[in-house]
Amino acid sequence: MDKLVIHGQRRLKGEVTISGAKNAALGVLPAALLSCDICTIENVPDILDIKILKRIMESLGTRFEDIDNNTIRIDTRNVNSYQATTEDMHKLRGSYYLMGALLGRFNKAVVTFPGGCNLGVRPIDQHIKGFESLGAKVEIEHGLIKLSAEKLVGASIYLDVVSVGATINIMLAAVRAEGVTTIENAAREPHIVDIANFLNAMGANIKGAGTDIIRIRGVKQLKCNVVHSIIPDQIEAGTFMIAAAATQGDVLVKNVIPKHMESLTAKLMEMNVNVEEFDDSIRISAGDKLNNVNIKTLPYPGFPTDLQPPAAILLLRAQGISTITEGIFENRFQYIEELRRMGAKIRVEGRIAVIEGGYPLTGAPIKALDLRAGAACVIAGLIAEGETEVFNIHYIDRGYERMVEKFQSLGADIKRVSC
Ligand code: EPZ
Repeated sequence: MDKLVIHGQRRLKGEVTISGAKNAALGVLPAALLSCDICTIENVPDILDIKILKRIMESLGTRFEDIDNNTIRIDTRNVNSYQATTEDMHKLRGSYYLMGALLGRFNKAVVTFPGGCNLGVRPIDQHIKGFESLGAKVEIEHGLIKLSAEKLVGASIYLDVVSVGATINIMLAAVRAEGVTTIENAAREPHIVDIANFLNAMGANIKGAGTDIIRIRGVKQLKCNVVHSIIPDQIEAGTFMIAAAATQGDVLVKNVIPKHMESLTAKLMEMNVNVEEFDDSIRISAGDKLNNVNIKTLPYPGFPTDLQPPAAILLLRAQGISTITEGIFENRFQYIEELRRMGAKIRVEGRIAVIEGGYPLTGAPIKALDLRAGAACVIAGLIAEGETEVFNIHYIDRGYERMVEKFQSLGADIKRVSC
């Protein structure tokens, strides 16, 4: 087991390059199962979740060739199993994309109920509603989800909840269904567009990804030898933008798509943070006078729920009272208990966190409760007076490539030690 040891109050300065998007890669790799050949994926983040997903796909017969740390060649020619039931399936929520991908390839799938962070109940009823609309029979027994269909036929599906996972999963299952599938009230996240672009490059016929109506015209088969590059990680980029502002630093965040960052950029400017946008980078600099603001997390293009924990740390630096309303998950404030050990003045009232800014944090031993809470712990350590130890850092390794090295390159006093 490792921990991070951070000595705070150093301003971050310099440049950092953002890795490929975790939540895009978690959909693109299973999407490769819809073609029966080889493809190459670039800018894949070198993180634990991807390592685990590759292991699960290898158990189905997929062969991976690592061209370099961030480029993989996927060979699905020998994939002969539709049963994804290894122990690894519990380790990440993104394993649920194997439902749509295996159903789309075999008209059958047996998968273990997905795992993931404890952000509250994380149902998959909308995924199942979509699969059943396409003609699949779905049974849940002994912790397994069993899906089967004579054939998949296009349908109109209205999502009761704007769900990223359900939107992507239904898209995967519909790509080779007979006829047209329409997903209404679809999620619009950038990674949905990235996965749709990859599928279209393989010969799928998907229109409207990135809007709330996605139309998929089924095709008989997908072609091979496609090369696709994963988009930059919007959440990692936001995490470093927030850390730069929180430490009163001056950082150029590179390999980003500024349009994907708009909700955060707008909020930072409201707080009196300097934001300079370039084609594929954003420069963040801030002084010590930050305005208090109110944030509400919403589906894209709203403020992303995955930046909610890091944003809370920044609001602790603002003068006066700020609030965060968590509009997506019902239990995403658990990390606040850890921050209280550092002197954070935050009270939670249901889905609203009321943050009293302007009080210094002092270093303390704290633990990551999920990957985004882990990022918040690191930023808290970066601004606190004295030494902070962060435990349970496997959560951070799940979603952030070389986070420690990236913060060290910006001048942070942070190191990983075994404990
Ligand atoms: C994805 O989770 C991401 N995970 C999450 O990122 C992210 O926080 C979330 O989208 C929202 O952007 C991956 O992409 C692997 P949802 P997902 O379905 O798909 C409810 C991270 O840190 N819902 O959009 O599970 C659900 O309970 C992780 O990278 C249903 O009710 O999120 C939630 O309240 C954390 N029924 C809301 O919808 C369903 O069938 C949004 O969930 C599905 C979801």
